[in-house]
Amino acid sequence: MVLVSLTPRRLPLAILRTAASHQLRWSSAGAYTLSTPFRRPSTADRSTAAAKRLTQATPATRLNFASVSNLKGGVRPPRVLITGGLGQLGISLANQLRSRYGVDNVVLSDVRKPDPTLPIAHPLGPFVYADVTNYPLLERIVVDFQIDWVVHYSALLSAVAEKNPARALHVNIQGFQNVLELARLHKLLVFCPSTIGAFGPSTPKDNVPDITIQKPNTIYGITKVHTELLGEYYHEKFGVDFRSVRYPGILSTDTLPGGGTTDYAIDIFHQAIKANRYECFLNPDAKLPMMYIDDCIDGTIQFLEAPSSQLTQRVYNMSADSFSPEEVAAIIKQKYAPGFEMSYAPDFRQAIAETWPATLNDDAARRDWGWRPNLTTDGIVEVMWNGIAQLYKAKPATIQTGAVSQAQVA
Ligand SMILES: NC(=O)c1ccc[n+]([C@@H]2O[C@H](COP(=O)([O-])OP(=O)(O)OC[C@H]3O[C@@H](n4cnc5c(N)ncnc54)[C@H](O)[C@@H]3O)[C@@H](O)[C@H]2O)c1
Repeated sequence: MVLVSLTPRRLPLAILRTAASHQLRWSSAGAYTLSTPFRRPSTADRSTAAAKRLTQATPATRLNFASVSNLKGGVRPPRVLITGGLGQLGISLANQLRSRYGVDNVVLSDVRKPDPTLPIAHPLGPFVYADVTNYPLLERIVVDFQIDWVVHYSALLSAVAEKNPARALHVNIQGFQNVLELARLHKLLVFCPSTIGAFGPSTPKDNVPDITIQKPNTIYGITKVHTELLGEYYHEKFGVDFRSVRYPGILSTDTLPGGGTTDYAIDIFHQAIKANRYECFLNPDAKLPMMYIDDCIDGTIQFLEAPSSQLTQRVYNMSADSFSPEEVAAIIKQKYAPGFEMSYAPDFRQAIAETWPATLNDDAARRDWGWRPNLTTDGIVEVMWNGIAQLYKAKPATIQTGAVSQAQVA
């Protein structure tokens, strides 16, 4: 009953739906309380055990969405716009956020049509066309949907950006500036990820701290340093709740990578399962930070929901583990495919990888908002192998391995 009186037109159904599946409760203090684990369980075969561990280990979490007070002074779940929402990370994040906040409260947007084969868990949720370089269009979406938070995922990634520098500058820089201006005017929380690509050849290689030398020599890295600095500026100058983490290479089984330098670490599983061989575009010893997508999405939600007062900085390193092509190949050969053969034909992406750190220090993220990854290298290889093997068993003909990255970097 309280729900209905506190929420605007479309919300009650969404909240009730979410409340039913995720035990969301309104407390007498007007806060939004979640009695299920803070992190959502992984999908079935990825690890029921891990899900159980989380359920037992994580206390009920109280969420105070101060930024989304409604007109009557109560609170409601945030309404979130995800730009670039059909990419590798956007779909997974949307699935989780729609389960937490209600389907109607998470608006996916992109410049391409949702393909029916994409693993969108709530396909009837709102989807809109939004070119992030088009400010009036973005503003209209923010106003029409009464958006509170923008997760700005639209970007050209490292390898694609190197092939299209002018377009990368336009999308990554103009797009982000548009989102920041909207945040200033409409009081939005803005999350825009940075990357290990925001470091450069003069950055130390190991245990890289949050504050260090950042002189990247790729167009992608340059645009992400711009993101970090301009976001911090808008926070300092205008009070915009800007948040960013430097993601490492993200590995997923059911969404394709968008053309980054770490994409080999996904392609290798597809080729190993299909052909028992793989030709790698990086050198054997190109060690880079990597993370499994469930950890990335869980950590991102944790960061989004952290009270602003808890954050001692606006940009954080976020790391899980690091490995090189020869290390992942050795695990595949030893545990899953004894006959697996790896060869190496480094291309322009090796030069990019050489400028990136091998390991990151993410102590501040762990301290300020409780970041903890579940999987390190062996666990990542296990879920990747099992997940991709299962995909091929289920529908081998429809899987386009590496299709996005190869097409986009060509
Ligand atoms: N995936 C990773 O390993 C990784 C690592 C570090 C940082 N990141 C960052 O995370 C974010 C999301 O990455 P991703 O892997 O999902 O990327 P992706 O390439 O899979 O998705 C990006 C999406 O942006 C869309 N897009 C392109 N131009 C656009 C425009 N003008 N307007 C609106 N949308 C546009 C594309 O259609 C695509 O769906 C990016 O900012 C990226 O830099 C990703």
